[in-house]
Amino acid sequence: MPHDFMPGLAGVPAAKSAISDVDGDRGLLEYRGIRVEELCDRSSYLETTYLLLFGRLPSPQQLAKWNEDVIGHRRLKYMIVDLMKCLPDQGHPMDALQAAVAALGMFYPGRHVKSEDNNYWSAVRLVAKLPTIVAAWARLRHGDEVIVPRDDLGFSENFLYMLTESEPPPLWSAVFDDCLILHAEHTMNASTFTGMVTASTLADPYTVVASAIGALKGPLHGGANEEVVQMLRDIGTVERVRSYVDEKIRRKDKLMGFGHRVYKVKDPRAVVLQRLCERLFQESGPSPLYEIAMKLEQVAGESLNAKGIYPNVDFYSGIVYDKMGIDIDLFTPVFAISRVSGWLAHWLEQLRENKLFRPDQIYAGDHNRPYIPIDQR
Ligand code: ACO
Repeated sequence: MPHDFMPGLAGVPAAKSAISDVDGDRGLLEYRGIRVEELCDRSSYLETTYLLLFGRLPSPQQLAKWNEDVIGHRRLKYMIVDLMKCLPDQGHPMDALQAAVAALGMFYPGRHVKSEDNNYWSAVRLVAKLPTIVAAWARLRHGDEVIVPRDDLGFSENFLYMLTESEPPPLWSAVFDDCLILHAEHTMNASTFTGMVTASTLADPYTVVASAIGALKGPLHGGANEEVVQMLRDIGTVERVRSYVDEKIRRKDKLMGFGHRVYKVKDPRAVVLQRLCERLFQESGPSPLYEIAMKLEQVAGESLNAKGIYPNVDFYSGIVYDKMGIDIDLFTPVFAISRVSGWLAHWLEQLRENKLFRPDQIYAGDHNRPYIPIDQR
């Protein structure tokens, strides 16, 4: 049956899902029917992860068990750490994360995806271990010892502690936890779709997540938050914003952190992140990057808003991480630490009514060409 070709599958439904929903015209994002703003105000990242994976908010007992299970699986086998020690320290942390996650699949029994019990523990391990891998790599590449997770610290607090070996201010942990909530899930995006294609082959969840990490790397997807901070640093001062934007628009270059396939208004996550920036900067001192970003949003908006192009989630997230002293190339791995819960939720949903992804193509090449021997070409 012939179909219209939709480049990038724009607007083509690839699955039925009950995990999250986006209203791109009104700027709304819900996880399992609950608005992300409400989750940021009232939930925690780990509780949100439970909601995404299992479809409902946990009871107090369920949440306590979930927290305990995740906390109990944060450590890394020394062989995973040794494996990371063998990777080039100039390599991008997303590559190290992808390699380590793929390797996890060799240590844990994840291949039998028909076993609910196996799948539960795979999800626990992946949610628990990604932050430890990212923090371990951040230290190893500078020649520092890996810091083991501390069981008395919460999820976000522990991650920031493992990066720096000092306990973060409570506001930083709270803001970081909200950032994780905001990045946890976002319907049928490129990395989720990649993970689902892999999941549909009944590959193990470590491979599913490793392939999703690969897709998240690209600058048109998760990699944009790095580029935003680089762009803001390049601009350097509020006074230079207008000439920078004019030049970009004249050359028809894209401004990083702007635009979205679905949102035609300001991304609701960018709205919350901007509020978080303000809370953070009130307590921890102003950020020159934030001043430049606000001016950029205003100046770029004069040309782009009419086309439905507004800041997306990546526009403000990097500014928050930069203020916390997180290296710029760790921003996308931090995104992955959070998004793993969305990928896993889609993996579990996919397994329930699995059908192998095998789309069609429209052949645009030749037929019946003669083979010309090499000496006659
Ligand atoms: N800056 C300037 N113009 C833009 C931007 C931008 N950031 N984004 C889109 N446009 C313009 C395009 O030039 C194009 O204009 P035209 O119709 O006059 O040629 C029009 O808007 C449509 O652009 P497309 O790239 O076709 O739209 P698409 O839906 O494919 O783009 C995307 C979505 C890839 C996110 C795009 O907006 C972009 O490249 N943004 C910058 C990268 C970025 O911030 N990515 C993070 C996205 S959020 C996430 O993945 C977590």
